[in-house]
Amino acid sequence: MKVCVIGGAGYVGLVTGLGLADLGHRVVNVDIDEARIARLRQGDSPIHEEGIGPVLERNLEAGRIRFTQELSDSLADSEVVFIAVGTPSQGDGQADLSAVIEVAENLLRCWNLPERPQERRGPHERYRVVAVKSTVPVGAIDLVRGILCRELREGVDFDLVSNPEFLREGQGLHDFFHPDRIVVGACSDRATQTMRALYAAIIGGPAAASGETDAEHGQATGPAVPFVETDLASAQMIKYASNAFLAARISFINEIAWLCERLGADVKEVAGGMGLDPRIGHAYLEAGLGFGGPCLEKDLKSLIQIAEANGYEPQFLRSVLDRNERQVEEVVAKLKQMIGSLLYQRTIAVFGLAFKPNTNDIRNSASLKVIRRLKQEGATIKAHDPMVSPGAPLAHSESMGSDASASIDAIDTIFDDPYEAADGADAVLILTDWPQYAELDYTRIRDHMVNPCIFDARNLLDSKALGDLGYQYAGIGVAAVSSR
Ligand code: UGA
Repeated sequence: MKVCVIGGAGYVGLVTGLGLADLGHRVVNVDIDEARIARLRQGDSPIHEEGIGPVLERNLEAGRIRFTQELSDSLADSEVVFIAVGTPSQGDGQADLSAVIEVAENLLRCWNLPERPQERRGPHERYRVVAVKSTVPVGAIDLVRGILCRELREGVDFDLVSNPEFLREGQGLHDFFHPDRIVVGACSDRATQTMRALYAAIIGGPAAASGETDAEHGQATGPAVPFVETDLASAQMIKYASNAFLAARISFINEIAWLCERLGADVKEVAGGMGLDPRIGHAYLEAGLGFGGPCLEKDLKSLIQIAEANGYEPQFLRSVLDRNERQVEEVVAKLKQMIGSLLYQRTIAVFGLAFKPNTNDIRNSASLKVIRRLKQEGATIKAHDPMVSPGAPLAHSESMGSDASASIDAIDTIFDDPYEAADGADAVLILTDWPQYAELDYTRIRDHMVNPCIFDARNLLDSKALGDLGYQYAGIGVAAVSSR
């Protein structure tokens, strides 16, 4: 099928476009970001994503994907047009729909351009599906429809669908090819069938059997993936409710963690024991610094705002957010319990700046929020992150927000080497659970610290081993270890 992805140099758009190209579709990714489009044409991905390099290379080589800034050319014969632009959170939590509105207006403008003779098509070929991938509040799809129907040239026929994404940053391509479900909200059977055909190779339908898909990913090898056909509003709510539920699990386990500390229980043991119940499961029960990043908090705030706008007081959702926001303050308070409340001129080695491991994305990172608090109290911050190093380009820096930029600028020094970051420190603070931090030589680190103290706000390290090395150790919701 012929597909156009608008917002095709952004995270969701790029992963979607590449995934569809790898399934054998002909894809054009359109984006206004000139620099990113130029890089992508050279086979250089502007986002860090497991396995993205080879997928980009082979689909460029095979001519299955191209990158452009020109929307009008790309639209001419697309059967499915994805809208995958960003919907950042505004101050009140409301999703900023300006990019989506602009795309709808540009689509209308392009559709209304006179057809060139070579593009002239029969009425049945003029049908397209416009699939909204961006996370937008329920009424926003009507807004898009309203724009598209305004003065639409006769003969242009389209349906709008909602096709939310569930990709996790860092493993987006894996999630694209191995989804737990594909959700399509539509109000016409024709649109649903078009989307089903598009994803057929993944859900185990006819395209997989035809053998025309890429051998590496395009074959439906596992069990069939559920294809959820629903209405527009329910599809959008599935996305919001899923992210809110993941956030709720994290806030829940963080609340249990603070209780565990007071009761002498160990939250890792508790979460492990709870997760064995298949009704509960193990995922998203890791206590720590709380959820950060560009999605969970943004979507939770947006859902709260949607509830209020519709006359409902979302008490539960509010407390999920509130628990998460308090986490930073409580982590700082606990650090003070360990090393004393006067942080002025104390040196803190921060391990981890990204909002989670395997990404260099620091947008809305809880680590930076902690750093900001420590700086306010006069601490000196020496930081390390395996993927955020001095001079290295940051993912999504254009949408990083002033808070993140200010916090990263406030760091006294970012080191390429964690041992240098810890040299002369009063405490090491683990703020992102990069697995490599568990492999460091903590004897070497101890010998160069002013005070052998580790606060592991991600419960990553082996507390007993550190206690044996003479460290004062604390995690979140786990037994503290005093230095000998
Ligand atoms: C999240 C969802 O997991 C995706 O399904 C969704 O598609 C995406 O948002 C989106 O809406 O675009 P992502 O933002 O990449 O994906 O991040 P997650 O891997 O879910 O992690 C979010 C945060 O929760 C991180 O800061 C992580 O450290 C934290 N977390 C996660 C915990 O504190 N504890 C856990 O047990 C799990």
